[in-house]
Amino acid sequence: MRAALELVKSNLKIVIVTKSLLGKAHTVMAEGGIAASLGDVDPEDNWKVHFNDTVVEGVYIGSWRMAELLAKEAPDRVYELEKYGALFDRTPEGKIMQRAFGAHTYRRLCHVGDKTGMELIRTLEDQVLHKNVTVLDETIITKIFTSNGAVAGAIGLRIRDGKFILIKSKATLVATGGCGRLYHVTSNSWESTGEGIALAFKAGAILRDMEMVQFHPTGMVWPPGVKGLLVTEGVRGEGGLLFNTKGERFMLRYSPQKKELDARDVVARAIHNEIKERRGTEHGGVYLDIRHKGASFIKKKLPGMYDQFKDFAGVDITKERMEVAPTVHYFMGGIEVDAETCATNVKGMYSAGEAAGGLHGANRLGGNSLADILVFGRRAGIAMADYIKSSADIAAINENDVAAEVDRVKSYLKTDGSNPYDIMSKLRDAMSEKVGIIRTGKDLVDALDEIRDLESQVNSIGVKGGLLFNQGLMACIELENMLLVAKCIVMSALQRKESRGAHTRSDYPKKDPELRLNITCSYSDGKVLLGTSKIPDMPEDLKSIVTPEVY
Ligand code: FUM
Repeated sequence: MRAALELVKSNLKIVIVTKSLLGKAHTVMAEGGIAASLGDVDPEDNWKVHFNDTVVEGVYIGSWRMAELLAKEAPDRVYELEKYGALFDRTPEGKIMQRAFGAHTYRRLCHVGDKTGMELIRTLEDQVLHKNVTVLDETIITKIFTSNGAVAGAIGLRIRDGKFILIKSKATLVATGGCGRLYHVTSNSWESTGEGIALAFKAGAILRDMEMVQFHPTGMVWPPGVKGLLVTEGVRGEGGLLFNTKGERFMLRYSPQKKELDARDVVARAIHNEIKERRGTEHGGVYLDIRHKGASFIKKKLPGMYDQFKDFAGVDITKERMEVAPTVHYFMGGIEVDAETCATNVKGMYSAGEAAGGLHGANRLGGNSLADILVFGRRAGIAMADYIKSSADIAAINENDVAAEVDRVKSYLKTDGSNPYDIMSKLRDAMSEKVGIIRTGKDLVDALDEIRDLESQVNSIGVKGGLLFNQGLMACIELENMLLVAKCIVMSALQRKESRGAHTRSDYPKKDPELRLNITCSYSDGKVLLGTSKIPDMPEDLKSIVTPEVY
């Protein structure tokens, strides 16, 4: 939506396609805030500190140029959002209120209670819906077409009326989020199955850092229906403390300096370990306690959390402790893009947000994703407008290719097909059990074998019924792409024989200076090919800001 707001300035024909409803994106699950060094609460903060935090917590394999752009431009995007109508919480002097978040040096997260992502989406939607933008909702894209190496358009199935829709386009932005639904326990809702990444990949885009999967330290564990639902880092940012069942504030042991507010990978590993060593609760969590802040503070600062626990778990967090455990939240990896323009290696294809890789390296700081989508959404929109104006006519899409794609999707409609949900569930078993917070080479090999076996069964899947609002058909379409993305994750994780950021291997517990590089995936003849790319040297002026890496 942020890119669209740039494109409308050039009077271009814009179509936003969304698999569910506009505004129902994982963005709403960035609850605690947007990171921008306004210095409204801690005046010492500035872009350089934000830049350093982002590079260091990305464990030095992120794109330093993207980190620089993010840190420099995030404040303007926050002010702009305010002009669009977002209502941020204020300090007593009327400045924008900023809260602490894990591994941010200063209080940096501008927020709207604990519903910041929701406010961001609401504000952008308000802008977009009043502009000349066509929104195709409930439409699942099944293929991106290219012609002579350039994007030519895409085809999708509109679930609501069962119609195939062909979109011819000079430029396409893949901003489809991540793939948390590869796991059983995730903060992501049903849309996050990674097909944007898979479709771009099959159309020729390079992927990077696919092994880097972020487990948010705190998701709900009980009742089962809401297992994995996000418990915002804002709880810890506002003073919430973590305890095991022995009553020990265990983060003092794992991270004596930063404690509960260390980077997500550190806190998630600590909780995982406490649970594994049997100091967890009967529901498989640890306790998160904010009662000491008092009921009125909690209801004012964390109204969403108060309601969420009351409504779903019957827990009053002003009087009782929360039970929490890690939940899959975000993919640092994704489509490789140019830092300035968000262009991919495929002409006319752009990517931004969680679908794109690079900015966050091995670990993302909370609040950096909301800043990411605004900073790079805007940049992508500007670059796409320039590209569209300067490029030739829209490339033709071969009619036979369109017919073949329609036939492929329809071929899932059969009476004797095997159940796609069974395979999806087995895929989630493999990812959850073998590609989790702590990994080993053996587990990863087993997971890859399992994925290959499941891939071989895809030809036999199918569902009854027709094209109209057929959830089973959607599952068939999603499954193939989920398997491909999962394969990239596991192959990359096998290749990275070290522990760095979110990628922890108990068989390679140390960081390896030789592996300060990016692992890439490319697609050729139906196969995933692994590669590596060197991290470009940082210019001296930026180097002087960054805390040197220690091995
Ligand atoms: O915990 C949270 O509120 C999540 C924020 C984020 O992922 O950026």
